[in-house]
Amino acid sequence: MMRMSTSRGIFISFEGIDGCGKSTQVKLLVEYLNQSGNETTMVREPGGTKISEEIRDILLNRHLDNICDRTEALLMTGSRSQLTNEIILPYLKKGLNVVADRYYDSTLAYQGGGRELDLEWLIKLNHFATYNLDPNITFFIDIDPKEAQKRKNQEEDRIERAGIDLQARVRNAYIELAQRFRERYVSIDGNASVNTIHEKIINEIKMKQLIK
Ligand code: ADP
Ligand code: TYD
Repeated sequence: MMRMSTSRGIFISFEGIDGCGKSTQVKLLVEYLNQSGNETTMVREPGGTKISEEIRDILLNRHLDNICDRTEALLMTGSRSQLTNEIILPYLKKGLNVVADRYYDSTLAYQGGGRELDLEWLIKLNHFATYNLDPNITFFIDIDPKEAQKRKNQEEDRIERAGIDLQARVRNAYIELAQRFRERYVSIDGNASVNTIHEKIINEIKMKQLIK
């Protein structure tokens, strides 16, 4: 199938297991891009619009632990569809860049790898939800689940509470996705220091001539 390419703004996504250091890097990258004259906005998933944040509350609520795997997949993609239509596509069309703290690979990794739902079906579902939008580049910050667990400082949400086995399956799924979609994936060792990772990210973006 022909995939839609973004005409002007650049769309960058960040992926990895919980606690890999994504949010830290997303913030640093967005600051860097805005300071270097590349106007950029940040979004996070699930969430990012009023409707998507309401869906997030259902998804991550520790007291709603009987959500079945298919409902989880559909709500994740529902949240994504609203975010894509309301925020991401309009921004990109205006020539602004978007950095996403998770995008559709999270559904492929968590609901596909983690919950073991059919991957090819989830890919189709996500094409539908995202209006066929693909990130221009995806940074996968790779870290061992045990190391990520050591970094936790907040109360765990419903999905994090599912435990280390789920995180290990999710990590393996990301490793496979990075091979399958190698034209847009960049894997980065998440054990390096915050600054080393940040510099690698900037270098990749510059090398691929995605920004000025
Ligand atoms: P995520 O968004 O992937 O869940 P965060 O960016 O929130 O991860 O990071 C999780 C925790 O690990 C935070 O306390 C953060 O300060 C810390 N952290 C982030 N990056 C690193 C790193 N490269 N080395 C050590 N600790 C880190
Ligand atoms: P969040 O608090 O944003 O975690 P993190 O800081 O690690 O990104 O919670 C998002 C949780 O939802 C996280 O456990 C990953 C999970 N998730 C999915 O299972 N599928 C998805 O499609 C998305 C976007 C997130």
